Order: sequence, then structure tokens, then C-alpha cells
Amino acid sequence: MFISFEGGDGSGKSTQARRLKRRLAAQGRRVTLLAEPGGTPLGRRLRRILKYFAGAMAPETEALLFLASRAQLVRESLGPTLARGELVVCDRYADSTLAYQGYGRGLDVAELRRLNDLATGGVYPQLTVLLDLPVEGGSRRLAGRTLDRIEGGEAREHRAEWAFHTRVREGYLALAREEPQRWLLLDASRSRQEVGAAVWDRVRELLEEGR
Ligand code: TYD
Repeated sequence: MFISFEGGDGSGKSTQARRLKRRLAAQGRRVTLLAEPGGTPLGRRLRRILKYFAGAMAPETEALLFLASRAQLVRESLGPTLARGELVVCDRYADSTLAYQGYGRGLDVAELRRLNDLATGGVYPQLTVLLDLPVEGGSRRLAGRTLDRIEGGEAREHRAEWAFHTRVREGYLALAREEPQRWLLLDASRSRQEVGAAVWDRVRELLEEGR
């Protein structure tokens, strides 16, 4: 079985992915925790470029680098692990590309789905947990103030970033609505324990069905 976690930055998905791994391992199950981008030596190199490269990067290039990292992860690690009958928990996967590069950056979502098919070789999760959180900040902080040139620039940047993260969030919610049987939508503002319990309920159900 393959389970992925998705959500915005700071939604607690890495914590929940680790927590789920621990619970599964405590039951004596063999489980591997992976994360995207990264998860392989080449993937880690690509992640560094994606995070820190200071020059120009077109949205198409960005998408292809995330997809390249994914293609390597599936062949080198995720695919073989599943083939050995182990469980895989992955912190971000194909849906991140649809949400960030598709809904966020405005690339064609149908085309990104085809590229995901190529990158993943058709390996998709049975369950995807979406940790949903409202996008913080908005333009409220700066509303009603007269801004100088620098503040004005910052405010514009801030608003653009807020709008980007809002599109990403709405994209995730649209994806979850389209395929409700695969997605578990959770309010990430609840406590870690509550979120963890909701994840565990659904995973237990799936494991029982799979028996
Ligand atoms: P990182 O710090 O590695 O992880 P996280 O935010 O999950 O803790 O940053 C990953 C960033 O890359 C995050 O902002 C989401 C983004 N991303 C995409 O834009 N597209 C993708 O396909 C993936 C996997 C991630």
C-alpha cells in the first residue's frame, strides 16, 4: 500500500507522515518513509536546484525538474519498495505538481497529469491525506496604510505570494473533490493528536479492506 501526504508549507504533513510511519512500524509492518522532492541522491541534487538556484527558471522547467526527481524516486526506491510488499508513506507526490505548477503557476493540469503518468509509470497512492489550512496573512496586515516605495513593492510581492498559495490551496481542494474515494481531507488547524487519529482511522480501514 502507498499513502501520500499533501498540503501547503507548514501544514504539518511531515510530522503526520512520520507519525503514521511510527504507528505502522509499531504494528510490526515493514514501512518506508519517502519525501519529495528528493528521496534519491539525484533527487536531492534536483531539490537543491529547485530551492536555491538564483537565476531564471521558467514554470515549465520547474515542473520538469520536480517530475525528473519523481521519475528517479519511482525507479530507484518507491517502485522496488512496493514490489517487496512494503508499505510506503510519501511526504508529497504527484499531486504537488498539479497543485503548485498547475493551479499555482498556471500550467495546463491535463498536460501535467500526462507527464505524471510518464514520471510515475502509473504508480499512484491508494490514499492521499490532504492537510488543509487557510493561507495566512492576506493583505489585511497592510490594508488601510499608505505605503512608501519599498513597502509598496513588498506589499505587491506579499500579495502575489498570498495569491499563489491561495490558488495552490484551492487546487488541492478541487483535486480532493474530484476523487473523494482516494483523498482524506483534514482540517490541519486541529491538534496534532486529532489529525493523527483521523489519519489512523482511515489507514486502519484500508488495511482491513486489503486483507
Ligand atoms: P521542501 O522544503 O522540500 O518540502 P516541504 O515544503 O514539503 O516541507 O519544499 C518543497 C517545495 O516544493 C514546496 O514548496 C512544494 C514544492 N513542490 C512543488 O512545487 N511541486 C512538486 O511537484 C513538489 C513535489 C513540491
